[in-house]
Amino acid sequence: MTVAPDYSEKIPNNVDLREDRRLQRALESWQPNFLSWWESMGPSLATRDVYLRTAVNVGREGWAHFAHVPMRDYRWGIFLAERDPGRLVGFGEHKGEPAWQQVPGEYRADLRRLIVIQGDTEPASVEQQRNLGATAPSLYDLRNLFQVNVEEGRHLWAMVYLLHAYFGRDGREEAEELLHRNSGSEDSPRILGAFNEETPDWLSFFMFTYFTDRDGKYQLGTLKESAFDPLSRTCEFMLKEEAHHMMVGTTGVDRVVERTAQLMVENDTDDVAGSGAIPLSVIQRYLNFHYSVSLDLFGGETSTNVANYYTAGLKGRWNEDRRRDDHKLTGDGMMVDALVDGQIGQAEVAALTGLNTDLRREYIADCTTGVNRWNKILESAGLPHRLALPHIAFNRKVGAFAGIEVAPDGELLTADQWQARRGEWLPTDVDKTYVTSLMQPVYERGRIASWIAPPRNGINGQPFDYDYVHLG
Ligand SMILES: [Fe+2]
Ligand SMILES: [Fe+2]
Repeated sequence: MTVAPDYSEKIPNNVDLREDRRLQRALESWQPNFLSWWESMGPSLATRDVYLRTAVNVGREGWAHFAHVPMRDYRWGIFLAERDPGRLVGFGEHKGEPAWQQVPGEYRADLRRLIVIQGDTEPASVEQQRNLGATAPSLYDLRNLFQVNVEEGRHLWAMVYLLHAYFGRDGREEAEELLHRNSGSEDSPRILGAFNEETPDWLSFFMFTYFTDRDGKYQLGTLKESAFDPLSRTCEFMLKEEAHHMMVGTTGVDRVVERTAQLMVENDTDDVAGSGAIPLSVIQRYLNFHYSVSLDLFGGETSTNVANYYTAGLKGRWNEDRRRDDHKLTGDGMMVDALVDGQIGQAEVAALTGLNTDLRREYIADCTTGVNRWNKILESAGLPHRLALPHIAFNRKVGAFAGIEVAPDGELLTADQWQARRGEWLPTDVDKTYVTSLMQPVYERGRIASWIAPPRNGINGQPFDYDYVHLG
């Protein structure tokens, strides 16, 4: 049930776009707007070409093609995972009915909203990362940054396709808005808080791709379950690309920790700033920041909207089909984090309204594996130091803990105590200035900046000293 991808078209696709001239024309008229957005808000470093992966198919094998391409000529295409003609809705009140190939009128506004929120994050991250090319620690890292950027651009295409194909005029208007809102803009910021934060340096970039992009992975996982089949198939394919973004974050932090550990051992000191590396205490503060703002992305502990989305079949749970329950949850309860008499505690709520908490817990468990991995690096270097995820209530701006101040170990603080000590736990101006001072570009093949270890493997079987990027 899949159409062979057509690369002779202006817009590569496997959705048989040429059979729908109206839709094709609408997308072709959005394309120049996308390109001018990319020119003005995308990567600012001039390059001749970059060794990029381009999605060319959706099958298990050979779905991507690697080559040096000028970024402006990247073939942003529309790819949906193969259709399963027998697919049934897996949860909610429509469980067991055939998956929807069209948007039911009663869910139109909610589905559009979900697609717009997801779509808004994709170009936002490109905007946040636009100046990082100027300070890349190696050509390998520079290439990975651009790979993430072009794929976030493709994810925008994925959402815009759905808006154009299934939501008529409103959808087309929303697609325009996705290019008009900008990360950090005073007048028209991006929808979610973490996507208006800066990504000013590469430590932030690795933390962002580890923690914030990982939120994206979990959101896509819930939309992959959607009864609206085109959305499900789109997200399934996006998750395939997302795996590379996760790898960039995970191994990026690995390599920073590895370099720091190496210098701590060599020089027998915690203070590696003198040798051009990033002290563990600074890494911990960056981690605290990115983790806590990413927790906020999952929303409040309870949400009736999300309960309604689930019941309607719009948005499922992470790994819905592996859950051993009735996939309706109507009579079930669960415990969620809550403020109880001013103290951090738990409260019982209907399972349906607690679904944000359920997703956040899955995400936290995943984040724990990253920290364990980084601690293994410290351990094998023979160091007693360890990194840790801060307490769930630390530095929260959304949900039950938004109104309180909490230390990374979970201790409740007064506002004064928080003010006095926050510099121990969140990146300070001194930290940021120091990290920024390390951000000197290294563009020679096979060389790398002082603050990070080289990767264990290159891209697509190429060595680390490959000419991943030709500068312009
Ligand atoms: Fe994405
Ligand atoms: Fe991503």
